[in-house]
Amino acid sequence: MSTSFRNPTHPIDPQFLERWSPRAFADAPVTEDQVLSMLEAARWSPSASNLQPWRFIYALRDTPEFETLLSLLVPFNEGWAKNAGALIFAASVTTFDGERDIPTHSFDTGAASFALALQAHKLGLVAHGMGGLHYDKAPLVLGLPDNVKLEAAFAIGRKGDPDSLPDFLKARETPSTRQPLSAMVFKGRFSGEVTNPTI
Ligand SMILES: Cc1cc2nc3c(=O)[nH]c(=O)nc-3n(C[C@H](O)[C@H](O)[C@H](O)COP(=O)(O)O)c2cc1C
Repeated sequence: MSTSFRNPTHPIDPQFLERWSPRAFADAPVTEDQVLSMLEAARWSPSASNLQPWRFIYALRDTPEFETLLSLLVPFNEGWAKNAGALIFAASVTTFDGERDIPTHSFDTGAASFALALQAHKLGLVAHGMGGLHYDKAPLVLGLPDNVKLEAAFAIGRKGDPDSLPDFLKARETPSTRQPLSAMVFKGRFSGEVTNPTI
C-alpha cells in the first residue's frame, strides 16, 4: 500500500502508517494459528501492576460460533464484517479481587488490542476495530461475568477488492489521516480547545 497520503511530521516506523482499517476482505481463510499469533502479541502487552485485564473471544469463519459473534454486530458492521475470516471480541476485567476496581482496565485492553492489530498487519492481515456492537445483549451471549466489560470487536481478514463493497463503503475504502500533533500534545500543561476532528 502507498502511504504517501499519510505523512508523519516526525520520523516513525512505517508499520504505524501502513496499518489501516479496510472493510473489503478477500475470500481467504484466516487460520487459527494466525489468530493465536495475534492474541499472543496481545498477551505480552503492558498493563497496570501487570494485571493483564484483557480477555478475548474469537471465532473462525464457517463455524457456528462465527455466526453467533456476527449477530452481535450492528447491521452496518455485520454487512461488511460477514466476509472476514475471523472475529475477535475484546473484553476487560474491571475488578481484580471481586471488588477492587482496576481503573485502567480499558486502557490496558486498548493497548493489548493495538498489539493484536499490529501483529495482524505483520502477518499481512487486517484487524478492523468495531465499537458498533449490541452491547445490551452481547455480554449474555458471550457469557461474560459481571466484572468483565465488553470493549470492542475486530474483524480479521486479508484485504480485498474495494469493488466488492457497496458504493457508499467503496468511497471510504482509503487510509485516513490524522489531526496535527499540536491538537493533541501539550508541553507541561493542557492548553487549547477540545474539538472533534473533522477528518
Ligand atoms: C474502538 C474502535 C471502534 C471502532 N468502531 C468501528 C465500527 O463500529 N465500524 C467501523 O466500520 N469502523 C470502526 N472503527 C474503525 C475506525 O473508524 C478507524 O480505526 C479510524 O477511522 C481510523 O482509521 P484507520 O484504522 O484506517 O487508521 C473502530 C475503531 C476502533 C479503534
